[in-house]
Amino acid sequence: MVDHCLQASKLQAKVGAAHGPKKLMLAESATAPLSAAGRLESFNSSCVVLVPGNKLPAWMFADLRTDHAGEIGAVCIYQGVLKFARDPLLRAFAENHLATEQKHLRLIAEWLPKDQHSRLLPLWRLAGFLTGALPALFGSKAVYATIEAVETFVNHHYQEQILAMTSRIELSALRQTLLDCQADEVAHRDEAAAARGPSQSGWVLSAWCAMVGVGSKAAVSLIRHI
Ligand SMILES: [Fe+2]
Ligand SMILES: [Fe+2]
Repeated sequence: MVDHCLQASKLQAKVGAAHGPKKLMLAESATAPLSAAGRLESFNSSCVVLVPGNKLPAWMFADLRTDHAGEIGAVCIYQGVLKFARDPLLRAFAENHLATEQKHLRLIAEWLPKDQHSRLLPLWRLAGFLTGALPALFGSKAVYATIEAVETFVNHHYQEQILAMTSRIELSALRQTLLDCQADEVAHRDEAAAARGPSQSGWVLSAWCAMVGVGSKAAVSLIRHI
């Protein structure tokens, strides 16, 4: 099945190039003539590479709900930072990251039907805002350490989902979206770590960052259900 799907993926790439962005179904056999667009209608649905708007397997909804709520939280983190930060370097850092998180949110939202959104979004917005605003009141280093902690968590979170989707060819487009988001989160983490510098955080900041990690994990567990 996977072989068929892999061959079909190659076929889709060729046919897709010839037919533009129009949504195409994949052929059951990669030996189907590429010129016969009509035959594409008889494709095996089990090999369809899903695109935004397609119905996803139900087991994906809980994962995507966490991603969607997490990206909303990320947007609010940077809005919280920008509410109080005065350091121009920190503000530029937050504005850059905010634009990336807004892009992530748009990408994930395309995949998740509205009726699958977390019912606690106002809570995640508030939690995100406070996660950015509180350290911003204490200075740049606190913000950078917080972002490093958040993005370390998010990197692992996306990695688990990406690994679970490795052999699901029909989810390859969604997997690529998550890979793209993950690459940005890793860059955010590394940028924050570099800006924070090599000095050790004090115990208060270390405790705060540990709390952010534990809180993120607890939120994900809850969002999977609500
Ligand atoms: Fe993000
Ligand atoms: Fe990020």
